[in-house]
Amino acid sequence: MGKIIAISNQKGGVGKTTTSVNLSAALGELNKKVLLIDLDPQASTTTSLGINRSLLYSTVTDVLLNHIEIEDSIIHLSDINVDVIPATIELAHLEIKLDIDDREYALSHKIQRIAHLYDFIVIDCPPSLGLLTLNALYASNSVLIPVQCQYLAIDGLTQLLNTIRIVQKQLKVNNKRLEIEGVLLTMLDKRTKAGWEIVHEIKDYFKEGVFDTIITSNVAAQVAPTYGLPVTTFAPRSPASKLYKSLAKEVVANNERR
Ligand SMILES: Nc1ncnc2c1ncn2[C@@H]1O[C@H](COP(=O)(O)OP(=O)(O)O)[C@@H](O)[C@H]1O
Ligand SMILES: [Mg+2]
Repeated sequence: MGKIIAISNQKGGVGKTTTSVNLSAALGELNKKVLLIDLDPQASTTTSLGINRSLLYSTVTDVLLNHIEIEDSIIHLSDINVDVIPATIELAHLEIKLDIDDREYALSHKIQRIAHLYDFIVIDCPPSLGLLTLNALYASNSVLIPVQCQYLAIDGLTQLLNTIRIVQKQLKVNNKRLEIEGVLLTMLDKRTKAGWEIVHEIKDYFKEGVFDTIITSNVAAQVAPTYGLPVTTFAPRSPASKLYKSLAKEVVANNERR
């Protein structure tokens, strides 16, 4: 069974999408079978990979509303060895359309069918702790939490950790576990004292729960999505590319240890 990892933090702009896309691509380069699910109505993962929304035949919304089989929503991006289930803004209206008795488990039920086909399934979450994020958490084996190395980084993390705890309790009833894959420090400006202070603050708080890899602020990471490419393909020798490859190795090692 593939390991399912939700990339979550209810704060926007902390690097969830950048991490989802580049971690997936880096895992793909390691010859892992990877499925990346865009679960954010802003659909940044979908556009970052150059998938033209207007040409989309089906999306994650159609899967969750039982309009199509999950297998039929998968786009194979053979050049980067990653499969994607795309999203569009329609996903924003899902909440009012989902069946009451399946609300939080809709994604989990769908993923079960295909998890055996992959080594890793990565889910890019929206910047909220609403129904979509709950669906991602209930479907996942672990959560990777990107934290931007900026002032007030810790703000809001308590709420995320509380939500994770609630989901963990619920899952325990079904003999399932949700672990914290790790906290990923992102967009560190190595030249500033303030950035390093956040690194120390987060490491004090989460101890060994923080990935050794720290993603530094890097122009290539920012520009790659405008070319519809992961940074590992757009600028393979850039710092961001190397760092996301190092993160992928940590994630693989974590998985093998368990
Ligand atoms: N390592 C990085 N260096 C520079 N810019 C980055 C880096 N990671 C992300 N960004 C930029 O920061 C912004 C927010 O990142 P994004 O991944 O979209 O966050 P989120 O999905 O949490 O909202 C984007 O414009 C993205 O290009
Ligand atoms: Mg995003």
